[in-house]
Amino acid sequence: MDMKMPVDKGLDNTFNLLTEGYSFIQERSEALQSKVFETRLMGKKMVCMTGKDAVRLFYDTDRFQREGAVPKRIQKTLFGQNGVQTLDGEKHKIRKLMFLSLMTESALNRLTAITTEQWRLKAQQWTGQENVVLFDETEEILCRVACLWAGVPLKEPEVQSRAYDLGAMIDAIGGVGPRYQEGKMARERTESWISTIIEKFRDGAMEAKEDTAIHTIATHRDEAGRQLNTQIAAVELINILRPVVAVARFITFGALALHDYPMYKEKLKEGDAEFSEMFVQEVRRYYPFTPFLGAMVRYDFEWNGFHFKKGTTVLIDLHGVNHNPELWETPYEFRPERFKDRKKDLFDFVPQGGGDPKTGHRCPGEEATVKIMKASLHFLVNELKYDVPSNQDFSVDPIRIPTLPKSKFVIQNVSILE
Ligand code: HEM
Repeated sequence: MDMKMPVDKGLDNTFNLLTEGYSFIQERSEALQSKVFETRLMGKKMVCMTGKDAVRLFYDTDRFQREGAVPKRIQKTLFGQNGVQTLDGEKHKIRKLMFLSLMTESALNRLTAITTEQWRLKAQQWTGQENVVLFDETEEILCRVACLWAGVPLKEPEVQSRAYDLGAMIDAIGGVGPRYQEGKMARERTESWISTIIEKFRDGAMEAKEDTAIHTIATHRDEAGRQLNTQIAAVELINILRPVVAVARFITFGALALHDYPMYKEKLKEGDAEFSEMFVQEVRRYYPFTPFLGAMVRYDFEWNGFHFKKGTTVLIDLHGVNHNPELWETPYEFRPERFKDRKKDLFDFVPQGGGDPKTGHRCPGEEATVKIMKASLHFLVNELKYDVPSNQDFSVDPIRIPTLPKSKFVIQNVSILE
């Protein structure tokens, strides 16, 4: 039976998206009483979907493709051009394996060790400083971590500007005007820097260990046995550096959670590994980061009575699925305990995408993210003493994509615990 897909009112809802932010799909889905509906965004007819079954559908790589689904403005800022995010089929599989091959147990342990070491080094500068803006400092720390882990040389005087650029590409996601321009220029500068590094490595003018990202990406062979050209290799190496820096957002939210729910700080201090895992997962679920993702219908098909037309862009509501009351009890409460003995499911907990990362586009860096978060929060809780001044704006704007606590979380009177 072919049912008519509910249609969102309005000639074009781009403005509403900009003024509704993270709740755009969820609220409309509730109002239309349908997990699937049609809307118009950026002058194009699009389909929005939410719920677990919709995630499962979205990650069906037979019915959906990514080529042609990533807007140019996202390629010019966040993703870059011709990267893994835009590939399908065999090409995607081979490129994706390159990323997954970097996530070995020993490489991830090295990532944890580097993260702890870099927090310790940076924190020494904070004692005696009046205000420490945790988010900005964390981006810098993670820029150092990303480069050390990936084998990319980074000179001390350039740390601040490289960290800024990697952060600006992420901050541009929902930005129009100056925020978009900043992200675009940040990408141009970063691609030029990383292209030079790739060339140096290939020319033998610098070395890197075999299990580093630069070594793996610069020597990677595609489906035809060819090396990636310099531009694509740079885009893919930035696909490692930038998301490591992005983890600063989850860490800042983690610090906010520790402030808002001090009993969890005590529990984390006890060093219970199971609780640390639960806490980190709840930070990834509860706080807003990735709002939704897009893919394109590959051929006409029917699903749950609805017709999906070839060439239509379909958006999946990741934020809404992480806050869906059918999947999560009291979804707008921060409650790490909900992850105790929770069964792993590829389609209901989707802060970094859904499905199987080997066969689809799900983030290959989830374990890396969790490792960085655990090491960072462990440091904040067990090695640092600080005050959190109340005269700052902790509010998290649900309209701005991506969002953060407005003050970016300021701490004071920092001392290092022996
Ligand atoms: C703040 C932490 C992170 C968030 C919120 C995040 C989120 C995401 C999301 C939503 C996707 C898209 C999934 C899809 O298209 O279906 C993705 C893909 C990707 N992520 Fe992450 N990620 C994070 C950390 C990382 C880390 C630490 C790495 C690597 C070290 C990484 C590498 C990638 C790559 C290479 C892709 C493209 C995968 C593909 O297209 O097949 N991410 N990430």
